[in-house]
Amino acid sequence: MKGVVLAGGLGTRLRPLTSITNKHLLPVYDQPMIFYPLQKLAEAGILDVMLVTGGFGTGDFLRLLGDGSGFGLRTLNYAYQEKEGGIAEAIGLTRTFVGDDRFVVILGDNIFEDPLLPHVEAFRAQQRGARVLLKEVSNPQDYGVAELDGDRILSIEEKPVEPRSSYAVIGVYMYDSFAFETIAGLTPSTRGELEVTDLNRAYLDTGLLRADVLAGWWTDAGSSIDGYLAANVRAAEMRRAERKIRGQA
Ligand code: DAU
Repeated sequence: MKGVVLAGGLGTRLRPLTSITNKHLLPVYDQPMIFYPLQKLAEAGILDVMLVTGGFGTGDFLRLLGDGSGFGLRTLNYAYQEKEGGIAEAIGLTRTFVGDDRFVVILGDNIFEDPLLPHVEAFRAQQRGARVLLKEVSNPQDYGVAELDGDRILSIEEKPVEPRSSYAVIGVYMYDSFAFETIAGLTPSTRGELEVTDLNRAYLDTGLLRADVLAGWWTDAGSSIDGYLAANVRAAEMRRAERKIRGQA
């Protein structure tokens, strides 16, 4: 299983914090934002990772993260996204790296409490298709939204004006290599991007999309300045608890 972390885009919703730097290099409590998804993958035993970046500060990622050994990764690979062509376009850039393997994608601005491993194990047991993670939120209109019947997904919409449920599709996606063929056939949305929601919908249409609901907290640190603040507060609680467990409080 391979890992992919996306750290492109212009981070316009966090300006002026992101006017001259990449959103994923901003601090979230005591670490740069990009550390959190890399730590999640390493903790889940996903040790070959590709980081896709673009926009500001791309060279800074190399200096900050190096070969990934500081996170316990076996390899850390880099890809460059020329323009902000969308999450699905960024995923498409990892095709050669992923090959015929399966892979877990984490959006670089998503920070969450639950361990990733149980979800990766569930995906391994699934053999084919894709798996997404959901979280119940009070502002579903700001995210991809899944309509559910029990644990079955009926529909997914990107930032709907009238959401059909309160379940956000968070920025952790697990795919088989068929994702790349699907991405190659996608057309840009009205905002000019290849949408991850269209990729997920393609799996839904073939009956190969599964989902888990997160129990712990989740934040999209890049969605708004308040989301960024909430991520800092949550991360502070989590990091303090980790230090306490290690006896460093
Ligand atoms: O956070 C979860 C949400 O993320 C999902 O619920 C939505 O379905 C999904 O579309 C996405 O929505 P956002 O509006 O929050 O996406 P954003 O443009 O902030 O990009 C998310 C991450 O992907 C961010 O860390 C940067 C990276 N990215 C984004 C774009 C558009 C890239 O690497 N390249 C890109 O071209």
